[in-house]
Amino acid sequence: MKLLLPVLFLFIGVSSFMSMSEQTTLQTAPKTLAKDTLMLDREKYLSFLKDSLKGKESMVADSVFKNIKSLKGKSVEQVLSIMNNWGHALGVTCKFCHETTNWASEKSRNHLRTREMIVMNDRLNRDLLSQMKGFRQPVTMGCISCHNEMKEPPHDGPRPQGPRPRPEAGGAPRN
Ligand code: HEC
Ligand code: HEC
Repeated sequence: MKLLLPVLFLFIGVSSFMSMSEQTTLQTAPKTLAKDTLMLDREKYLSFLKDSLKGKESMVADSVFKNIKSLKGKSVEQVLSIMNNWGHALGVTCKFCHETTNWASEKSRNHLRTREMIVMNDRLNRDLLSQMKGFRQPVTMGCISCHNEMKEPPHDGPRPQGPRPRPEAGGAPRN
């Protein structure tokens, strides 16, 4: 009888702790799960590519891949790690910018948009941020600074209504 009370308390304590932690996992699960799924999907393609490119990791990407324009001079290993960083920065899988049966293809409009983003991002760092006098240099921004794991960064104020006009021929096609 003397033992029953502490055991009962222990039981109540443990079970309420368990239901508490169950609640917190349930609340955070969908977001973490979605993120993990994206990461696993990217890892799947990356490990497939890494296997097929064994021994070529430190070769210049231009000499191994077919369609390197923006990342000229980087190694194969660097290009693959940049790919994963972009996926992470925009909260997407490789499919957001690629046909996974033909990595060199430019069919995905986000492939071309990315090249424009790289030009913008380089100029931002080189021509504007590095010239700011009131800040301790270097001041730099990357994809994650604006995208923060979103496809489109948040906009201040109202977004333009209705479909936006298509860019001139030659520009990256839009939806
Ligand atoms: C935000 C868009 C974006 C994402 C996400 C992305 N890529 Fe890329 N990828 C590009 C662009 C743009 C290039 C071309 C780079 C250049 O011009 O130098 C490229 C090039 C490549 C190439 C070289 C293709 C060739 O033959 O020239 C491979 C391989 C590749 N990506 C794999 C991946 C993998 C694997 C993932 C997912 C982990 C991924 N990419 C995610 C935009 C993306
Ligand atoms: C200074 C802020 C900024 C930086 C840095 C930036 N982006 Fe963007 N990005 C934007 C904005 C704003 C848009 C949305 C443009 C629009 O209104 O359609 C966008 C759109 C995109 C899109 C098209 C997405 C869609 O759903 O339409 C891609 C792909 C993209 N960015 C890739 C990148 C990559 C890769 C980098 C890093 C090399 C990068 N961005 C760096 C601001 C930025």
